Amino acid sequence: MKNIMRGTGWLMAVLPEQAGVGLPAKATRQWVASERYLLFPIKNGAPKQRVRLVVDGQAEAPNVMELAPGTPDWWAFRDITELRGKTITLEADNLPADNAGWQAIRQGNEIKGGEDIYRERLRPQFHFSARRGWNNDPNGLAFYGGEYHLFFQHNPYGWSWGNMHWGHATSPDLVHWSEQAEALRPDALGTMYSGSAVTDWNNTSGLGQGGKPPLVLIYTAAGNPMTQCLAYSRDGRSFTKYAGNPVVTQFTPGNRDPKVRWYEPARKWVMVLYVGYADPVKKDAMGKPGRRDTIRFLSSTDLKSWQTMSEIEGFYECPDLFPLPLTGDPGGEKWVLTAANSDYMIGRFDGTAFIPETSKLAGQRGEGFYAAQTYSDEPKQRRIQIGWMQAPAPGMAFNQTMSLPLELSLRATPEGLRLARLPVPELESLRQKAWHHEALSLQPGGVNPLAKVRGELLEVRADFEPGAAAETVFTVNGATVVYDADQQELTVNGKRNRAPLMAGHERLIFYTDRTTLEVFANDGLVYVPMPVLPPANQVVPAVTVKGGAVKFDTLDAWRLKSAWK
Ligand code: FRU
Repeated sequence: MKNIMRGTGWLMAVLPEQAGVGLPAKATRQWVASERYLLFPIKNGAPKQRVRLVVDGQAEAPNVMELAPGTPDWWAFRDITELRGKTITLEADNLPADNAGWQAIRQGNEIKGGEDIYRERLRPQFHFSARRGWNNDPNGLAFYGGEYHLFFQHNPYGWSWGNMHWGHATSPDLVHWSEQAEALRPDALGTMYSGSAVTDWNNTSGLGQGGKPPLVLIYTAAGNPMTQCLAYSRDGRSFTKYAGNPVVTQFTPGNRDPKVRWYEPARKWVMVLYVGYADPVKKDAMGKPGRRDTIRFLSSTDLKSWQTMSEIEGFYECPDLFPLPLTGDPGGEKWVLTAANSDYMIGRFDGTAFIPETSKLAGQRGEGFYAAQTYSDEPKQRRIQIGWMQAPAPGMAFNQTMSLPLELSLRATPEGLRLARLPVPELESLRQKAWHHEALSLQPGGVNPLAKVRGELLEVRADFEPGAAAETVFTVNGATVVYDADQQELTVNGKRNRAPLMAGHERLIFYTDRTTLEVFANDGLVYVPMPVLPPANQVVPAVTVKGGAVKFDTLDAWRLKSAWK
């Protein structure tokens, strides 16, 4: 696990207790729910308070909040529409009664500061991010009810990791997203860690009704023990936790992130699950017992009762397993096994075990792309992946974002089959103004062919033949991308990767958004996502060459529109 800005790390079970002297044991506030939201003033870094909502005498699992003692940095919200007319009580343990943040909590029909949502200075304009709070992993990627669903690890009440909920967004096209109400909130079994979603076409689970297949979410409840659970929906909007949870009991502490798929040849469900074992032989840097990381394969005929089939070593959290077609003769398919850092193996899956046919291969080549997963029931028979982009948004009321939706394929290379990623064609709907060049020969010191391009959100595509010693240098939005034909290497903001010429050509695609730059080289075999911060003033993009002429077969740039209204 990368502990990038995750507060105290992933097992936030124990809170620092506040000194209890002179403080009331319990602070309470009460309302009759009559408006849309309960609004909480948050100051990042303020003392953490544990706050519980009690409805009809039933206490929900607590959330940890940094309630602002003075002027808040931002306001968090909890949608209370479904509680209208009920008496709702907030409780906090060990909170000074005069705590200003506590007193400032109130109902409202608007998200405070909501008029600016999607227009903020660092808001990604064509990548999904939560309206408020923190996001990490994409969860439950599924096409259901005619729309794409993107659930996500969400802290609605903090700028950093914590209080894991499943946030929810929907889209007709993977580009334009509408954020919906939280799908899963923490409960007595724990906070809601990562997992997946499937349409149960044959109603094997019995959770469907009236011939309509349910959408079933399979998630980790991160309590002690840590277990795997189900929730279901019949309308793609409201979610009910299965009364028989958990469906998989704990194998080892920390086991998590079930990714489930239908395996047609045996007409059964297959789950891949991260299971780590303490390994006394392996020592970590501090001399403490190390860990042996495995992916466990389980199967089920009804999503409720699961049996272990096999296990494979060498992969950490957030596994995914999927087939990809082989193009050309004789066709067929291969299976890909991957996990959070996106390294992968290609091989066979026989219904019970994964049989690797490669060693572990390097996945993405940038920084901060993590915990990706692929869609179930993609209608266009593609395999679409979205990853968490660890791109901070300092000073904003939200933090982090998602990668572009990526279409995966297997491609033959001189080294063997490799995984390629390309941006989905739906993104072309964002193109606004175009600049086009072809058969352009650029000399060192030549005129910048992108000099007329204006815009902050850009897509750039170049197909070029560099002379033997040439360096082709692109600068976009303050980022620098260099293709070195001598070394056959691509360097994105200092991050260097091998990218061999293809029949003398290099083909690059760039997408620049406010906090991310994604570069695709070698027709997607090299994917370099990078977190960035925009320059203070807009800069004109440029292409320059050094050491020899470069021939551009095509050089295109588009100014992109925001995906938000
Ligand atoms: C990956 C991860 C998952 C876990 C989730 C918790 O980033 O650590 O393993 O389920 O985040 O938010």
